[in-house]
Amino acid sequence: MSCWTACQPGAKRAADGELVVSSSSKLNLFLEVLAKRDDGFHELETVMVRTSFCDTLRLRVRADSRCTLRLSDTTASGFAKTVPLDETNLIIRAARTLQQLTGCRNGVDIVLHKTIPPQAGLGGGSGNAAATLLALRSLWEQSVSDRELHNMAAQLGSDVNFLLSDCRAAVCRGRGEEIHPVAIRGNWYFLAVRPSLGNATAEVFSRCQIPERPRSSLKLTEHLQNGRVAAAQQFFFNRLTSGAVSCNPEMQRMMHKIAQKPRRVVWMSGSGSTLFVAAMSFVEAQQIRTDLQQLLRRDVWLLRV
Ligand code: C5P
Repeated sequence: MSCWTACQPGAKRAADGELVVSSSSKLNLFLEVLAKRDDGFHELETVMVRTSFCDTLRLRVRADSRCTLRLSDTTASGFAKTVPLDETNLIIRAARTLQQLTGCRNGVDIVLHKTIPPQAGLGGGSGNAAATLLALRSLWEQSVSDRELHNMAAQLGSDVNFLLSDCRAAVCRGRGEEIHPVAIRGNWYFLAVRPSLGNATAEVFSRCQIPERPRSSLKLTEHLQNGRVAAAQQFFFNRLTSGAVSCNPEMQRMMHKIAQKPRRVVWMSGSGSTLFVAAMSFVEAQQIRTDLQQLLRRDVWLLRV
């Protein structure tokens, strides 16, 4: 059964009417490519988990129909070069899609506090689109069903539906937009790091070899449901890894370093370029973060699921 709920945890409305919402990211613990489709996309079986690594959006209604977007003053300066603020940004596309469907004449001013890097395989842009759809449904007071919102999400991108749903974990099929919730138990901690360059999703998919005998996520989902962190790790997998590494040699060097020194098994999320390792507890996660920061001299994010 697909999941048609849509949920925005922790949205806050200020006295002046401004709405503040967080926009989550995802990790792919498993990603198998089943086939190439006639529409140019690939048929997937992927296991996504929602993480604590978030952007924040502040939204204020406009009386006219303009939709504007800017980065917050406290967003790191590097994002100004990599995050478009025009009609190509999924936030503006989500707002326009909702306006068109509902005929709403209001617009919105949005301030984005960005922390999730683009081209990372963490679904940062997709989470922004999902957060915008949910926030504007409420701010513009539109009676749009969760199902209609999911239909819009599927037009915007393959990962938007998972981040729009209230699922902590799900097996996602089709392009990634068909969500089958998984009742994950326990606390899960991951350390994630992104090489200096991101990956272009379409390029990574174009380098993928479709397997003759695809892997199944069944064993992994059983372990997620039983809260078995160590056992689950044996079934983490990402078919896009070799294609991504061939686009981004720095990923290969980082993977090699992580495997050598802290001797950790390392995986990639989505089409990369973010790499991640799993920890058995919060204490172990903090230790691994320190080790990785020293080894790689880069920001390492501690993600809770
Ligand atoms: O849906 P999304 O915008 O994330 O997709 C970006 C690109 O990644 C697509 O244009 C397509 O080339 C590729 N893709 C794919 N199969 C998928 C998801 C994405 O080939 N299931």
